[in-house]
Amino acid sequence: MLALTLSPVNLMQTLTMTLDLAVDGTGVHQLRTAIICRYIAEELEIRSPELQILLASAMLHDIGAASSQEERERIANPELETLLAENIYNHAEEGYQLLHDSPVFYGCATAIRHHHDHWDGNNPSGLAGDQIPLHSRIILVADRVEIRISELRPILGKSSVVREYIQEEAGRIFDPDVVDAFITCSEKECFWLDLVNPDHANAFHREMDWGRTRFHADDLLAMARLFSILIDRTSRFTATHSRSVSEVAVILASHFGFCEDELYLMRIAGLLHDLGKLSVPNAILEKPGPLDPSERLLVRQHTYYTYRILQKMKEFNQLARWAAWHHETLDGNGYPFHIPESALTLGSRIMAVADIFVALAENRPYRKKLDFDRLSSIMRGMVNNHKITGLIVESLLASYPEANQVILESEELAKDGCHLYYPSISSSVHTPA
Ligand SMILES: [Fe+2]
Ligand SMILES: [Fe+2]
Ligand SMILES: [Fe+2]
Repeated sequence: MLALTLSPVNLMQTLTMTLDLAVDGTGVHQLRTAIICRYIAEELEIRSPELQILLASAMLHDIGAASSQEERERIANPELETLLAENIYNHAEEGYQLLHDSPVFYGCATAIRHHHDHWDGNNPSGLAGDQIPLHSRIILVADRVEIRISELRPILGKSSVVREYIQEEAGRIFDPDVVDAFITCSEKECFWLDLVNPDHANAFHREMDWGRTRFHADDLLAMARLFSILIDRTSRFTATHSRSVSEVAVILASHFGFCEDELYLMRIAGLLHDLGKLSVPNAILEKPGPLDPSERLLVRQHTYYTYRILQKMKEFNQLARWAAWHHETLDGNGYPFHIPESALTLGSRIMAVADIFVALAENRPYRKKLDFDRLSSIMRGMVNNHKITGLIVESLLASYPEANQVILESEELAKDGCHLYYPSISSSVHTPA
C-alpha cells in the first residue's frame, strides 16, 4: 500500500499556506502566530516534542474559520476579544470538531478548542486559569499580538502599544505567566523584525527539528478529506463537490490502467483539486446568479493556488498537476498556466473531465442537474471544440450509471453533513531526522 516519507516542514508550510490563503494569496496569520508561540515557548522552556505539538496547533488554530473569508476577517478584529458580545468561540469549537478524530492532528484539537478562553473563566467552556490548556493560553496571547501587527509600521517604534495592551489584560484575558514570557521575549528587536520579515518563514521552519514522518495512504487520505471538507464548505451549493470529483476521477483512472498507488494519489488529487477556492470570497462562491467579469477573475485564480500550494511538497509534484490543471484545455486556452496539449498528462485530462461531469450532474442554484442526453451533448461539444479528451469522455459516458451513482451518494451525504465520510484511522510512524 502507498506510503510516503514526507518532511513535516514542507507539510506544515503547505498547511499554513492553505489556511492563510487570502484573496491576494498573502495571508500570514497562522504562521506568524506560530512564530510568536515559539518565542514564548522558549521563555517558558517548553521543549520538543511538546513544542512541535504547540507549533502545529498554532499553525492550525483558526482552521475552523478557513472556509469563510468573511469569518476570518471578522475574527481578525483587534477589538473582538474585549467585545464578548461578538462570538469568538464558534471557529474554535469548529476547529476541535474537525480535528479531534483526525489520525494526524488529533493532538492539536483540545488546544484549538480553548484558544479564545479567557483566564478569568468568562467563556462558554467554564474553564479558568490553569484548567485552560497551556498551549491554548500561549496561542491566545500570540494570536492577539499577531492581529495587531499589520497596523504597526515601522514596527520597532510602535510595538510598545501591543505590549501595553497585553500587559493590561493579564489576569483577565491572558495568563499572567504567559504574558511575562511574552514581555521578556518581545524586548528584543529581533522578535518584531522576524514577524514582519517575509523571508523569516523559511528560516523558522528550517530551524525546527521536525524530523521525517512516514505517512500511510490512509493518513494522507484523511488529511485530504479534512481539507476537502473545508473546500466544500466554502459554498453550500457545492457541499460534496470534491468528493464526487475524486470518486469519478478514480473510476476513470481505473479504466485507463492506473495502478493501486496511482489510484490513491488520484483520489487525493480529486479531493484537493479546488483547494485554491479558499482564496475566493464566499459571497462570490455563494452568488446564486451569474458572476460579473471581475468576480469571474477571482474565481479563476483558484487553480493557481491549488498548484502553488501542492507544489511545495516535492513528493506531490505529479499530484499537483493532476489536481490543479483541471481548467487547462487541449487548445491551450485554459487557465491559469495555458499548458499546451503535449504537456497535459493523462491524470490532468481525467481530472478535467471528472470536474466538468460532476459540475453538470450536480444541482446548482441557477439550474437543475442535467440528464444524460444534455450532459453528453455538452461534453461531446467540448471534445469537438478541442477542450477535453474524447477517449476519456466516451469512457465516462459508457459508465454513466456508475458515475451518476457517485453523485447520488454525494447528495445523500450532503443531507447529513460532510463528516459522514470522515477518514478511517491508521497510524503514522514517526522517525527522527
Ligand atoms: Fe481564533
Ligand atoms: Fe487566530
Ligand atoms: Fe475548479
